[in-house]
Amino acid sequence: MKVAFQTAQVSNGKEQDFVDQLRSGPTYIPDLALVAEEDGALLGHIMLTETSIANGEGTHETLFLGPISVLLEHRRRGIGSRLIRESFMLAREMGYTSVVLVGDPAYYHRFGFRSSVDFGIRHAQEIPPEYVMACELVPGALSGVSGTFDC
Ligand SMILES: CC(C)(COP(=O)(O)OP(=O)(O)OC[C@H]1O[C@@H](n2cnc3c(N)ncnc32)[C@H](O)[C@@H]1OP(=O)(O)O)[C@@H](O)C(=O)NCCC(=O)NCCS
Repeated sequence: MKVAFQTAQVSNGKEQDFVDQLRSGPTYIPDLALVAEEDGALLGHIMLTETSIANGEGTHETLFLGPISVLLEHRRRGIGSRLIRESFMLAREMGYTSVVLVGDPAYYHRFGFRSSVDFGIRHAQEIPPEYVMACELVPGALSGVSGTFDC
């Protein structure tokens, strides 16, 4: 993972620590941490953890798509897309209805993510709104949901 993020368009060099932190926290969902393997070698990884969208009136449970990464030499083979689609299918089966993330809109639009501002959802920290995105796993799941999330 550390190696994969060395060639990311946006990276703070600490994504592997962030994953360790999520993995040891209460929001970790082992069934929604997936790896892509080929001949026993680890090629990619994705992790969805629990978070909530809160406003003064209540909270709405959702998932946060944490770092996703694929080794440079195996990119553009559809591995990242499969990790996202597979994890979303499992999440839906587990009863989750939406996902939020911080990432590049150019990549995530294809999976149904839209600017979270369209839903009235913001990140609790000062992150440019165009990078904060949300996706409904179940149509209409985010209607009427607004507030902020953190992770
Ligand atoms: C983002 C990443 C996981 C995609 O994995 P992948 O296995 O190459 O993804 P896929 O093969 O399913 O899709 C590749 C497509 O996404 C595009 N793409 C990849 N990163 C992109 C980005 N940041 N912005 C726009 N498009 C992007 C590729 O150009 C390619 O497009 P094409 O299908 O038209 O050729 C991988 O590039 C990676 O690990 N990057 C470094 C870590 C990172 O930036 N993670 C995301 C932020 S958390």
